[in-house]
Amino acid sequence: MGSPAPPAIDRILFTEEQVAARIREVAAEIGEKYRERDLKLIAVLKGAVFFLTELARAIEIPVKIDFLSISSFRGSAPGMVRIAKDLDEPIQNEDVLLIEDIVDTGFTTRFLLQTLAGREPRSLAICTLLDRTVRRIVQVPVEFRCFEIPDRFVVGCGLDYRQHYRNLRYIAAMNPDKGI
Ligand code: IMP
Ligand code: MG
Repeated sequence: MGSPAPPAIDRILFTEEQVAARIREVAAEIGEKYRERDLKLIAVLKGAVFFLTELARAIEIPVKIDFLSISSFRGSAPGMVRIAKDLDEPIQNEDVLLIEDIVDTGFTTRFLLQTLAGREPRSLAICTLLDRTVRRIVQVPVEFRCFEIPDRFVVGCGLDYRQHYRNLRYIAAMNPDKGI
């Protein structure tokens, strides 16, 4: 990006070029693994949408896409989420890749995996842009990961702070004390 980074942005962890190059590598792995299969990418609105579109364009086999959105119950225990907008189509007998922006504690991903598994896909795996394993509380199997990140709050490439910064083309650590 040509314009200077906003003041709350502390440090760029991965540049636009690094993100694009890594997504192409992971797309190649996915294309290899799912050749001759019936691949559907499923992303959770809104954070994973940016990653899904870039990944989908880099995958060289046919893919289908679908979306869902979730919301957490106010003041509830972590991982207490519900589906706010469901998928448009069934996934029975399809090879489903759940596309995540970040797997952090793992609660959200576990909920999504359990929900999708109940619909009898042929296979089900996770592909995440970012993985912060140092904060993991519940174990989830991450099959494809672009980047492992340190214990810092990050924004950009779909990830937000109070709905801001999703459209940054790089991934950056931010300091909410410095405002939005
Ligand atoms: P988990 O249930 O703790 O794994 O949380 C996953 C969700 O929390 C993600 O889908 C994000 O929406 C949000 N999240 C976790 N860490 C960050 C971050 O560093 N920046 C922005 N959003 C985050
Ligand atoms: Mg968010």
